[in-house]
Amino acid sequence: MSEALENPFLDTLITRQRAEPCTVVIFGASGDLTYRKLVPALYNLAASGDLPPQFKVVGFARREKSDDGFRAEMLEGNKKFSRQGHNDELWASFSHSIHYHRSEFTDAAGYASLKALLDKFDAERGAPANRLFYLATAPEYFSVVLEQLAAAGLNQAPEGKWSRVVCEKPFGKDLPSAQKLNRIVGEVFEEKDTYRIDHYLGKETAQNLMVLRFANEIFEPLWNSRYIDHVQITCSENLGMEGGRGGYYDTAGALRDMVQNHLFQLLSLVAMEPPTDLSADSVRDEKVKVIRSLRPLTSPADVAANVIRAQYTEGVVDGVKRVGYRQEDRVNPQSMTESYVALRLKIDTWRWQGVPFYMRMGKQLPKKSTEISLHFKRPPQNLFKTEDVTGNDNALVIRIQPDEGISLRMLSKQPGVLLRMQPVKMDFHYSTSFGKASPEAYERLLLDAMAGDATLFARNDEVEHAWRYIDVIEDAWHKSAEPPPMCEYPAGSWGPREADEMLATDGRNWRRI
Ligand code: BG6
Repeated sequence: MSEALENPFLDTLITRQRAEPCTVVIFGASGDLTYRKLVPALYNLAASGDLPPQFKVVGFARREKSDDGFRAEMLEGNKKFSRQGHNDELWASFSHSIHYHRSEFTDAAGYASLKALLDKFDAERGAPANRLFYLATAPEYFSVVLEQLAAAGLNQAPEGKWSRVVCEKPFGKDLPSAQKLNRIVGEVFEEKDTYRIDHYLGKETAQNLMVLRFANEIFEPLWNSRYIDHVQITCSENLGMEGGRGGYYDTAGALRDMVQNHLFQLLSLVAMEPPTDLSADSVRDEKVKVIRSLRPLTSPADVAANVIRAQYTEGVVDGVKRVGYRQEDRVNPQSMTESYVALRLKIDTWRWQGVPFYMRMGKQLPKKSTEISLHFKRPPQNLFKTEDVTGNDNALVIRIQPDEGISLRMLSKQPGVLLRMQPVKMDFHYSTSFGKASPEAYERLLLDAMAGDATLFARNDEVEHAWRYIDVIEDAWHKSAEPPPMCEYPAGSWGPREADEMLATDGRNWRRI
C-alpha cells in the first residue's frame, strides 16, 4: 500500500475517489463549448463513475429557458458529441443534475438568485458543497462576471469547502489585457483557486510527454543539443471558418488563437527541465522557464526573418472546394489576419543552445494533425554515404492527434544482397496498446479542477511571459512602418513557400505529415 501511495498516478486516483459534492456553474452556457464539450465531458465522467457524489451543474446564460428546455438541448449535444456514445438510461439519471439559471451577466440580482439556488442545493444535500465557476463566456464578460461573483459573495467558499474559477481561453489578447485580467481574477480568487484552461494540456499524449521523458531513462540523456539537431511542432487543421467562427478568428489570428497558448504549452513540455516533483507549481516553474528563455525578437526585420504569416486563398481540401480566407463569412475582405503562422524559435538555455524549434500552425491545410518531432543529429561519419535529407534522420515523433502515439524513425538495411538503406519506424499507438480510447481533454481537466490539481492549467506568469513574446510579433505586423509581408497559400496545400524557405536556409525541411 505504501508503495502505491508513492505512485503519483494512484495518488491522483485516490484524491478523486475522495472528491466531495460539487456544483459547477457554467457562465455562457448557451454557447457551443457547453453543448459540444463541457456537458458531454461531464456525462462521460458520470459514465465512468468519476463525478463526485451529489453533483450538480448549472448553466448560467441570458436566454430564457427552463431546466427542461436546457436539458433537451444538452441531450441533443450529448447524442452528437459524447465520446463513449449515448445511453438513455444513464442520461436519465445524469440529466437530473443539470439546471438552468437565466440572467444577464451584469445583473446583480441574477447572482443573488444564483446564490440562493446554490444554497437550496446545499440544503437538499444536507451539507454545503464545493463550487466551481466556469467562465465560458466571450472574454469581454470575464471581468463583469468576476466582479458580480465577488459582489454576491460567491467567491467565498462555504465553511470548510472551496470555491474555484476556471477561465476559458483566450486569456487576454496581449500582455496588458492579460495582466489586467490576472489582476481582476486575483482580486476575486486566489491564484491557487484559479484554473486557466488550455485544452491541449488535457490531451493524452501531451500528458504522456512527461512520462516519456521522465519515467524512462532511454530518451532523456539524448534530449539536448548534443544529440538533437532541431525540433518541429506542427498543428495542421483541415477546417477554415466554419460555424460562424470568422468573426472571432479575424480579431485573433493563428498566433494568438493557437501559438500563444496551445503550441507554447507543447513547447514547454518538450523543452522543460525535469521538475523536482510532480506538484503543480514544480511543473509550472519549469514550464515557465522555457517561455522566459525564448530568445526575444528585437525588430520587425528579426520578426520577418523568423516568423512567416500567411492567409489561404481558394483551393480544395478533402475534395471540397474552399473559398479564400478573405472571402469567408464574417471576415474582413481586406483582412490582415493570418490563418497560418510558422516560427523559428531559439531557447537560450544550456540544454538547447543552437537547437532551433520550428513551429507551424495553419487552417485549411490538407489534414488535421498535431505532432512534435525531435530530429537527431547525423552520426559523426557518414560511412554509408547516405543522402543528407530530412527523412533520413533519426526522428522521434510524438503524435498528439489523431492516432495518438509515438514513433521512432531510423535507417535500416533493406533485405537483400545489396547494401540499400531505407527509413523504418518503430511505432506505438495508444489505441492498440491500451485497447481503449483516451478521455477527451475536457474530462480530465474538469476532473482535475474539481480535485484541486492545477498542474495541467496555465499559471498567471506563464500566460504573461507568452504574451510578452507574442506581442513583439503582433506589433511588428500591425504597428511597424515596414511590416513583414502577408504571404499566401492555396487551401489544401501545406502552407506558403516562404515557410519552406525559412527552413531551407537552415538546410532543413518540414517533416512530411
Ligand atoms: C481552439 C482554437 O482553441 O483550438 C481553434 O480556438 C482550434 O481555432 C482548436 O481549431 C483546435 O483544437 P483541437 O483540439 O481540435 O486540436
